[in-house]
Amino acid sequence: MGVKLIKISVVYFVIGVLLGYHMSMASDYSLTPVHAHVNLLGWTSMTLAGILYVMFPKAEQSLSGKIHFWLHNIGLPLMMLGIFLAISGVVSGIVPLMIIIGSNVVVLAVLVFAFNVFKNVKA
Ligand code: HEM
Repeated sequence: MGVKLIKISVVYFVIGVLLGYHMSMASDYSLTPVHAHVNLLGWTSMTLAGILYVMFPKAEQSLSGKIHFWLHNIGLPLMMLGIFLAISGVVSGIVPLMIIIGSNVVVLAVLVFAFNVFKNVKA
């Protein structure tokens, strides 16, 4: 699961950097919030969690580790797609819901991750 997180995070890295590149080339910075969060919640946070799980197998194998993995991987794409659509002008009924549900699920994922670190990461 740690290795999976690292590999998924690299996909976010590629998307985040390509989006940054597109914004630079087009001189259109409207998608900056998507770019920043794809890079920070997708690439950096996810890869750090992945490295931590590889270093501390007890945290990786725990129930809270599994719950964190799924919440992060469900919440983040939902939130990112929702924000992307909202910025692109698609503001139909489901888009605000995607952002609200997605961001709540990501917050929950981070809380579960913090719990897991305090409980299962030991020297
Ligand atoms: C080749 C790679 C990258 C390019 C071309 C790029 C490009 C950009 C551009 C054009 C902006 C908008 C600047 C503005 O609104 O004035 C931006 C903002 C931002 N980028 Fe990147 N970026 C890259 C990589 C990254 C990475 C790796 C991260 C984080 C790990 C990152 C984090 C951010 C953040 C947090 C902002 C928002 C800054 C703010 O609004 O003050 N970027 N980037």
